Amino acid sequence: MEQKIVKVGLVGYGIVGTGVARILSENADEITARTGLMIELACVVDKDTTSPREFDLPEGLLTDDLNVLLDDDSIDIALELVGGTTVAKDIQSKLLRSGKDVVTANKALLAERGLELFAEALDANRCIAFEASCCGGIPIVSAFRTGLAANKINGFYGIFNGTCNYILSNMTYNGSQFAEVLKEAQAKGFAEADPTLDVNGGDTAHKLVILGGLAFNCTLSMDDVYIEGIENVDIVDIRSALEMGYILKLLAIGEKDAGGRISLRVHPAFVSEDNPLARVDGPFNAVSVFGNAVGNAVFYGRGAGMMATASAVVADIIEIALGNSRRVFETMAMATETGRTVQIKPIDEVDSRFYVRIMANDQAGVFAKYGQVLGRHDISISGAMQHEWAGPDNTVPVVITTHPTRQKNMTAALKEIEQLDIVSGQPICIRIIDIPEDTE
Ligand code: HSE
Repeated sequence: MEQKIVKVGLVGYGIVGTGVARILSENADEITARTGLMIELACVVDKDTTSPREFDLPEGLLTDDLNVLLDDDSIDIALELVGGTTVAKDIQSKLLRSGKDVVTANKALLAERGLELFAEALDANRCIAFEASCCGGIPIVSAFRTGLAANKINGFYGIFNGTCNYILSNMTYNGSQFAEVLKEAQAKGFAEADPTLDVNGGDTAHKLVILGGLAFNCTLSMDDVYIEGIENVDIVDIRSALEMGYILKLLAIGEKDAGGRISLRVHPAFVSEDNPLARVDGPFNAVSVFGNAVGNAVFYGRGAGMMATASAVVADIIEIALGNSRRVFETMAMATETGRTVQIKPIDEVDSRFYVRIMANDQAGVFAKYGQVLGRHDISISGAMQHEWAGPDNTVPVVITTHPTRQKNMTAALKEIEQLDIVSGQPICIRIIDIPEDTE
């Protein structure tokens, strides 16, 4: 096979950057054998040039001066692994203007300012590749861009945040407390620099905007996503639902309805313990995709971490060097303001099943009053559970699950339930998502 030398520059020599340097050094022979490419890390830029890293770069490669990279015309591909949405944006713009294709893992930047950047890339006749921005090492971006390109995508359901999944798994199976497990996730390096973005669903929403744009071939923004995080999840509900056969996940959902409207949601959701997503534990990510030709395809793997994310970054370097990324980038609807627009379905019009827990006074007539409110709002109960143990102030937790219900009906019913004299505090309401089954 003919061999081609590819020179690469890296900005941000942090955890993922170190992983990239390691892969390019340790797996060089495999990469060349598979692709014919000899990828050379020719310049590494970081403001910190002294701290020890897990991989020692050759002498003279690390600099704190971005201009060294910008001025080096022998480097055609640059990696932005800095993170954040301000400095990183400037860096990417400069890299594109200096004639380099850009590889990035920066989901926040792409979800929030992607259109701006994509326009700059198209203007400069360059491309931006972003496999590492979603679900770490799982090749889900290329799956949507090429592997599943033959399909009309009806929907996808994902666990996109390892920190949240780690927290929820530990609460579910070990009875751990939220704050304590979050600290563990930070120590293990899955969490964002500001873990608020993990637990409030923002990080998952960033990935949903990117993958939704690819899946439905349209231009999306963060405003299109309904977001709830896991900050207020209570172990009582995790345990109650477990008894009923449900596991709690922070789910990202992209669905297209029969009229072509798209619903994008991030929220805690109970999924049946029989669904493959229920068995995704710890920091792992997964995406369950439904295409009209392929049926159901499930992708699973490490959603974060040094080597898994670096694997995706190197995949992008290879795709750019082979000439594939540019072609796909130019035809990507989500890259342009005039890209295909879609109608977003408001959350109020979405139907799902619900888990509702009230703390009810332990007295006669509770179920009657409760049931009347639900009935008035056209909400049909599918299951109910009450244990013989008292909560505070002689209250008992009463849990019901519902048949499919319009969100606006549930919202109205909850407002009334909260006012009932038999109910103490606010009702807890968590959606149950019945992920479709591939029955053929
Ligand atoms: N903080 C993210 C997570 C890292 O926990 O999944 C990858 O985006």
